[in-house]
Amino acid sequence: MANLPKYRSYTLYENFLHSFYSLLQTTRIHKDDHKLVTAGISKFYDSFASCMQGESLTIKISNDHFFIQDKQLSYNRISKNLIDNMARYFNARELEGLKFSLASREASNEAILAFMRLLDSADQRQNPVAFLQTGLNLKNIDWVEVLKKPEKPQEDKLSTLKGKSERREWARKDYTYISASFKEVAQKVTSKGRVGMRKTVRVIQDMVTHLIEDDEVYSAISTLRVFDDYTFTHSVNVAILSMCIGKHINLSPRSLERLGICALFHDLGKIEVPDRILNKPGKLDDAELKLLEEHSLNSARLITKLRTSRDRKAKILLPPFEHHLKYNLSGYPYTNWKKPLTLFGRIISIADVYDAITSPRIYRKTIMSPDRALGFMLDGAGKDFDPILIKVFINMFGVYPVGTLLKLNSGELALVISSSRMKGEKAPLACIMEKDINGRYKQGATVNLAERDAETGDYMREIIETYHPSTFGIQPAEHIFSGY
Ligand SMILES: [Fe+2]
Ligand SMILES: [Fe+2]
Repeated sequence: MANLPKYRSYTLYENFLHSFYSLLQTTRIHKDDHKLVTAGISKFYDSFASCMQGESLTIKISNDHFFIQDKQLSYNRISKNLIDNMARYFNARELEGLKFSLASREASNEAILAFMRLLDSADQRQNPVAFLQTGLNLKNIDWVEVLKKPEKPQEDKLSTLKGKSERREWARKDYTYISASFKEVAQKVTSKGRVGMRKTVRVIQDMVTHLIEDDEVYSAISTLRVFDDYTFTHSVNVAILSMCIGKHINLSPRSLERLGICALFHDLGKIEVPDRILNKPGKLDDAELKLLEEHSLNSARLITKLRTSRDRKAKILLPPFEHHLKYNLSGYPYTNWKKPLTLFGRIISIADVYDAITSPRIYRKTIMSPDRALGFMLDGAGKDFDPILIKVFINMFGVYPVGTLLKLNSGELALVISSSRMKGEKAPLACIMEKDINGRYKQGATVNLAERDAETGDYMREIIETYHPSTFGIQPAEHIFSGY
């Protein structure tokens, strides 16, 4: 019999988390007496009983990691969605965790359901934890304790802010250095034939160190457009975005470094494509298209010319070659490509398309806002893009990526300067864009788009439309990096 691939199922703790999360979802859509709810409760009881050790069972989030009984759940292909969903659920309710006592095993189905419903509605409240504690008291539910996220001391907040501005400074410097070193390589590789890449590697190494600490500032810096030359700006942005994806799937620093180099050089072959083709506003003819479509193959060829070890070159050749091959292996340069794409090839193709469709180009009249670009790319999941990586990419940015321009129901325009994150803040922060007397947009007040009216519970500001900032002549990086 052929060897079937072995898939790991949930571990004991993951199973408990899964039955808990499923029950929350089921109670949200079904009435108390529905058979799925009853089945969900008994699954919850069973998994709970198997995890219970000693007097209590504690589930907690700390620094974006999930812990059950102080054991950290590992973040992998199997558990990833579950952990992300649960972390988002806890964060939305300002919960650090829940502590179930032994008495939970004796709780009635009605009490379990009452607890689930209270928990589910807590995110609508001004103070979710206080609401939960009062609700549990009123219903005499004493077998579960609500753990509130610890408040950061004021000093800590200040040092975080200081750290943030320092990290922005690193990001800016890294961006300048990486751009300069790439430009040097790209220019020399065609004229002199052989150029080393030691400097590029060093810059990428620094960048990896900084990016591991704070990747949000890096995904934001990819909105910078420092060169008139699209290929340079684009290559740097694709390197940054690819490394951010790599960080979110927990690649090692060494792998992130290699991914960054592959991504930086993915369009190296475009150096050989004449500008009249690269910037042609209309449709390309067959010969022009052929020349353009050869660029990924040429990127790999030019990499072989770099002055570095054979081993290093061999390790970075394939992903640039693959970056226009789609997940279903259509695309170019070869239509009959049979080998599955490398992980780096799949990552780079996502970063590549995103940057391409959100970049202002002289010949393009309309430009996609970052949130629409994500929606458009999600439609291509499983066809054009690796479906898991595309979800990681979208989670990384949040619904409204940094740099999206929003039109609010108040008629104001607001620029997203810090997005809602997979495990971070609850909602995007945006700054209101106000016109000065010269008609130029300047940064006004910063608002949290999750803010709700205390009386009605409605959002204070509704988003009614999204745009790419360039539609209004706004350069997002100018405002994003001026401080938040
Ligand atoms: Fe390309
Ligand atoms: Fe590209």
